[in-house]
Amino acid sequence: MNSSENNMDNGNELNSNSEENQAESPREVNAQVTNEQLINWIKSRRSIGNLSIPAPTESQIKAAIDCAVTAPDHKKLRPWRFIVTQGNARHDLGRAFLAAAEAQAAQAGEELSEKSRKKTYNMPLRAPVIITVVTHMQVHKKVPPFEQMLSAGAAVQNLILALQAQGFSTVWRTGLLANEPAVKAYFGVGADDYVTAFVYTGSSPCDMPTRKPIDIEPLLRFES
Ligand SMILES: Cc1cc2nc3c(=O)[nH]c(=O)nc-3n(C[C@H](O)[C@H](O)[C@H](O)COP(=O)(O)O)c2cc1C
Repeated sequence: MNSSENNMDNGNELNSNSEENQAESPREVNAQVTNEQLINWIKSRRSIGNLSIPAPTESQIKAAIDCAVTAPDHKKLRPWRFIVTQGNARHDLGRAFLAAAEAQAAQAGEELSEKSRKKTYNMPLRAPVIITVVTHMQVHKKVPPFEQMLSAGAAVQNLILALQAQGFSTVWRTGLLANEPAVKAYFGVGADDYVTAFVYTGSSPCDMPTRKPIDIEPLLRFES
C-alpha cells in the first residue's frame, strides 16, 4: 500500500468516520479495512527524509492532532503541546537552529564552518510542514516525568500514523539542537519542558521502502 493509496482509501475513510466513532465499535466503523490490513499498514510505516508539497492542510493537521491527543495519558495531564511551523516561519526556526549550533560550538571553543552554518539554517526547509511536539512537564505525585515523556512519545507516534493515513510522509527528528536554550526560547518552552519531536511532514513521489522483516524472537518472552 503506497502513500497515495492510503490517501484514497484508509485515510479518508478513517476521517469520514470520526463522528460515528463515538457510537460504534472500531471494528464496525472500519468494516472495510480488515484487522490484517490494518496491522500490515502499521508495519509498512517508514520515515522519509526528503519531503515536498503537497503539505497537509490545517484541517488535516488538526485531524492528526486529534489522534495524537488520544495517546495514553496518566491522570489526563495532557503533557504535550504542538507547534506547526510552515512557510517563512521555517526560516525563523532555521535561525534558531543556527543560534543553537553556534552556542554549542562556542561552548566547545570551536567555530562553525560556513558549510555547516548553511546546512543548519536550511534544516527546516527539508519539509513544507514541521510539527514540533513539546513535552509540557507537570509536577504530579503519581505521574513521574518519565511517564509524561513516554506519553508524548505515544502522541508523536499517533500523530505520524494519522498523517500517514491521510497520505503524507513524515520523519521524526529530534537531534542535539532540539533542547538547546535558543531553540527552547524560540518555541517559548519552559526550562523543565522538552522539545520531543520535530515531525517533518510532506509528500514524496517515492514509494515507501519495504522494511526488512525484524526477528522479534530475541526481543520477546512469554511467561505463564
Ligand atoms: C526520539 C527520536 C528522535 C529521532 N531523531 C532523529 C534525528 O534527529 N535524525 C534522524 O535522522 N532520525 C531520527 N530519528 C529516527 C527516525 O525517526 C527513524 O525512525 C529512523 O530513521 C528509522 O526509519 P524508519 O522509521 O523508517 O524505521 C529519531 C527517532 C526517535 C524515536
